[in-house]
Amino acid sequence: DLPTENGDFAEAQAALRRDLLARNDLPPWVAHATQPVMGEGPRHPLLMFVGEQPGDEEDIAGRPFVGPAGRLWNKALEEAGVPRGEAYVTNAVKHFKFKPTGKRRLHQSPDAGDITFYRPFLQREIGIVQPRLIVTLGATALRAVTGRAMPVTKMRGSLLRDPEGRPFYPTVHPSYLLRIPDPAGKAREYDRFVEDLGQAAATAR
Ligand code: URA
Repeated sequence: DLPTENGDFAEAQAALRRDLLARNDLPPWVAHATQPVMGEGPRHPLLMFVGEQPGDEEDIAGRPFVGPAGRLWNKALEEAGVPRGEAYVTNAVKHFKFKPTGKRRLHQSPDAGDITFYRPFLQREIGIVQPRLIVTLGATALRAVTGRAMPVTKMRGSLLRDPEGRPFYPTVHPSYLLRIPDPAGKAREYDRFVEDLGQAAATAR
């Protein structure tokens, strides 16, 4: 890319963040989050990953996928042979939603209203990033991309089109893998996840 184009990309991303912060109708729980966590990665990537929302570590760092789920995702990406430089990563919801319990901040799933609120920002981000293929991680991302609730287990592993006609490929969220208690089941599901990522990259290439 020409330097001017990279400059435009950075400016478009900064404008997205500014416009989000300027909203006076943010969901009330946003007041407890440290900062918005915006997407990271190159313009025109092979794959654009959409997660759920920043977690505890992401909220503090201000960067997506730097906590436990992000580390697992990074490992899977590497095993699938997808260069990190070909992946853009973001979230459907840009703030950490949690319940304060003592000194721990307990993750709370975003509801339909939260997803709807952030959806125009995700749509604009997809337009700026222009990925070859979108990969949705989990149910929240799938809902944010399609605009309706769908079962991830039925949709995973197939190439679909969003309402704008953009191709996307649904798979599970890495947090789901972290929560599987049985080691054999966990290993099996992790292998399937790596296969999905490899399949997505092969489809996009
Ligand atoms: N889980 C997500 O969905 N996104 C992050 O950024 C981190 C964990």
